[in-house]
Amino acid sequence: MTKRPWWQGAVIYHVYPRSFLDTDGDGVGDLRGICRRIPYLASLGVDALWLSPVFSSPMDDFGYDIRDHTAIDPLFGNLADFDALIRTAHGSGLRVLIDYVPNHTSSEHPWFRASRTGPDSHRRDWYIWRDPAPAGGPPNNWITLFGEPAWTLDSDSGQYYLHSFLPSMPDLDWRNPAVKAAMFDVARFWLDRGVDGFRVDCAPLVAKDPGLRDNPPMPPGATAHHRPMGGYDSQRHINDQGHPDVHGIYREFRELLDFYGENPGERVCLGEVHEYDWPVWSSYFGRDLDEIHLPINFGLLQTPWQAGATRDLLRAVTRALPATAVPAWVMGSHDDPRVASRVGTAQAPNAMMLLLTLPGTAILYNGDELGLPDADIRPEDIRDPWGLRTPGLSRDPARSPMPWTDGPTAGFTEPGVKPWLPLALPPGGTAEAQQGDPGSLLRLTQALLALRRGHAALGPGVIEFVEGSAGVLAYTRSGEPAAESLLVTLNLTGRRVRIDRILGDCRWERLLSTAPAASAGGDSPVLAPDEGVIWRPG
Ligand code: NOJ
Repeated sequence: MTKRPWWQGAVIYHVYPRSFLDTDGDGVGDLRGICRRIPYLASLGVDALWLSPVFSSPMDDFGYDIRDHTAIDPLFGNLADFDALIRTAHGSGLRVLIDYVPNHTSSEHPWFRASRTGPDSHRRDWYIWRDPAPAGGPPNNWITLFGEPAWTLDSDSGQYYLHSFLPSMPDLDWRNPAVKAAMFDVARFWLDRGVDGFRVDCAPLVAKDPGLRDNPPMPPGATAHHRPMGGYDSQRHINDQGHPDVHGIYREFRELLDFYGENPGERVCLGEVHEYDWPVWSSYFGRDLDEIHLPINFGLLQTPWQAGATRDLLRAVTRALPATAVPAWVMGSHDDPRVASRVGTAQAPNAMMLLLTLPGTAILYNGDELGLPDADIRPEDIRDPWGLRTPGLSRDPARSPMPWTDGPTAGFTEPGVKPWLPLALPPGGTAEAQQGDPGSLLRLTQALLALRRGHAALGPGVIEFVEGSAGVLAYTRSGEPAAESLLVTLNLTGRRVRIDRILGDCRWERLLSTAPAASAGGDSPVLAPDEGVIWRPG
């Protein structure tokens, strides 16, 4: 059997740096804070961390608007802090991935500042500039994720520039080989500093229709397959992203990563691929698995928390996977409502059990291991540019600071300092409290991660669904080669459920339950309300 690369089946912990731990008392998390919590991550049992952007930025989109790709923003620290973090993480056996934002820069980036000086600028064609439409107005009908026109007029030159997000985040033109070369150099810079890979932001956006044709309107009654996103959903986004040329770009990027440095094949890219047509999503692996190592699948975030719907989704995604490919699953992110709020506190342990027992790589968003709910953000506290534009779409609730210990700032920052976003407290308590409580979600997450390491059946491999009890999501997992299979039964209802038909004639014994021992169903064929269980052959 050939050894799998480390990233197939790894658990990657997503750190939102602003909200992790503040060590310099400005109310915003920083690199030293992440470094200080490496022991926490190592004892949690994850394999790697991925940091949302920490680069120099005006922070219009909290770091996804990059002003200097190779400098750390002073808010987070400096390059020495970054190097120290890499050393400390590696010293504890943790790999480090960073965000890589290819589609756009900040308008304060020197490339754009040069580009906007006029049509003769040597950087003009690094961005996407066009004359107004013949009848005047923007060159086409594209709109931003935030529901606004994706073109801004530069009155000096009379031309428009394209931005898929804020006007202060102009899109780079990846059809220009010089842009690709410069952005590949950015990747090399961080690889040289020791990062183990990247999470590629908005991966499909780098290739747009070369003729910049209009997007067609969304047909009446059709849905966008993601949670409602306001004006953005009025169009089918088929021309502003995902042009087939995208594959060539990621083939080259993959080559760069796979053949880099002294240990080729060790570096990885996760891809943010918001595609809900599964064959299209899976095309990002590449026909010969030679593009994005791990396209992230966002299906679980968009599927109602019901056994049938979740099973259908998992079956459909699995069917669309190229042979031997391993998907990357997420249950939470800095862009989506918190999983504990989506599925409810009682079900949050089941959501964690699902995430950590699926075949593939799992991405665990910071705070989800504590059951952190969406924070209550008053209108005057909204910071997210999306939330400021469209009421109800703010991503702030999922970005509130980590609650480490008891006290007014929950140990996130110094006493008396106001955290950049209001705190939320998980029903199970802070990280410290949960560490001391054997029945906590944190302890369950640690136990699940330990089990995952110890059982080949929970690695990338086979999942087979077992039906038989309404409201129960059940599946067997087996590794390669199949030694011992495990059975996972998740009661997604608040009722006691018999699962005789799922257990069948085999003898199974409980290996791990989400429920405290007193209320769990023992070895009887019963799941307590909201209980999830991993069974081994008895
Ligand atoms: C996706 C990121 O996850 C999100 O936070 C950001 O606003 C956009 N890309 C723009 O970079």
